[in-house]
Amino acid sequence: MKKIHVATGRPYDIFIERGLIRHCGEYIRKITKSEKVMIISDSNVFPLYGETVRQSLEEAGFRVYTHVFLAGEQSKTLDTIAEMYHSLIGNSFTRKDMVVALGGGVTGDMAGFASATYLRGIDFVQIPTSLLAQVDSSVGGKTGVDLPQGKNLIGAFWQPVAVLIDPDTLDTLTPHFFADGMGEVIKYGCIKSEELFSTLETQNAKEIIEDIIFQCVTIKRDVVEHDETEKGERALLNFGHTLGHAIEKEHGFTDISHGQAVAVGMVMIARAGEHHDITPKGTAERIARLCQKYHLPVTDNTPVENIVKSSFNDKKSTGSAVSLIVLDKIGVSRIFSVEKSAMLSFVTKEYV
Ligand SMILES: NC(=O)c1ccc[n+]([C@@H]2O[C@H](COP(=O)([O-])OP(=O)(O)OC[C@H]3O[C@@H](n4cnc5c(N)ncnc54)[C@H](O)[C@@H]3O)[C@@H](O)[C@H]2O)c1
Ligand SMILES: [Zn+2]
Repeated sequence: MKKIHVATGRPYDIFIERGLIRHCGEYIRKITKSEKVMIISDSNVFPLYGETVRQSLEEAGFRVYTHVFLAGEQSKTLDTIAEMYHSLIGNSFTRKDMVVALGGGVTGDMAGFASATYLRGIDFVQIPTSLLAQVDSSVGGKTGVDLPQGKNLIGAFWQPVAVLIDPDTLDTLTPHFFADGMGEVIKYGCIKSEELFSTLETQNAKEIIEDIIFQCVTIKRDVVEHDETEKGERALLNFGHTLGHAIEKEHGFTDISHGQAVAVGMVMIARAGEHHDITPKGTAERIARLCQKYHLPVTDNTPVENIVKSSFNDKKSTGSAVSLIVLDKIGVSRIFSVEKSAMLSFVTKEYV
């Protein structure tokens, strides 16, 4: 078992262990006096792991309630949140009771947001089951929900009271969603750890996934501890994301997934960095090879003008400049501000 302590405003621990969900009740019992727990999960994950989690919670003495919503990003709406509130209020949940988010990032973000806002905030535990959720979304306390106008436009910073990661749950994840999570894993190597990056190059991540998750979560923990509410360093986690988000948007969020778009974004920005003598030559190629090894695309045929234009609407772009994340080399990243007027020539260089 690996344990990672997160010293945010409200500190908590992250546990990583194969088979952990079978014992989740014991872990949760130690951190709460709650009597009632609501498992919030989606229609794919609950049938796979819901009963195991329920049984463990009941054995630990909790009264267990469940709320299952239709799986998928299209469910990430305020309507689904309202249904969660109805379940909580209908079962007389008080501030002393607790939510357990069992699922991928969609479940964690929404169960977290419902927990942050129901009765002005109740405790919640994350049990992330997708690779993306295990290495990224369950750590850091960002919760949220989409609006028709854009993704994650509503949200709150709300730290969980514990994160329980069971890498065995990844056995049922589709190869598509495994690859998607690998986009974020590769990102961590790029921004903070040459060692992680070369491990991914020389080994098969799937075979050593517990250790890979540990390394990624440790990196995210370090960044989040320094910058809990995203005023500075946390922006590094956005490597590949400004262009990636723009690519997703240009595709109407349909035929390219987040991890795929981030892979293309990382390669594009590394190439731009090379052309502007920020990033050593050959870096983009190395990132591209690694993405391809893990079944992620590295090019996209959206015209670069459209990608650039879409990137200006990114909720993280401010004023006349766009904050990009560039690599001084693999494992070393920094914020690099580019005027919007210069942005097209900055990234277009990748095609020269
Ligand atoms: N809060 C944050 O900091 C943060 C960071 C990154 C992404 N996100 C959010 O995370 C979401 C994406 O997360 P995701 O990719 O996990 O999406 P998701 O929750 O929709 O999960 C992806 C798919 O895999 C299924 N699934 C999950 N675990 C499974 C398992 N063990 N076995 C079989 N199927 C399983 C789900 O039902 C779903 O169909 C987005 O909404 C994004 O905005 C949040
Ligand atoms: Zn991401």
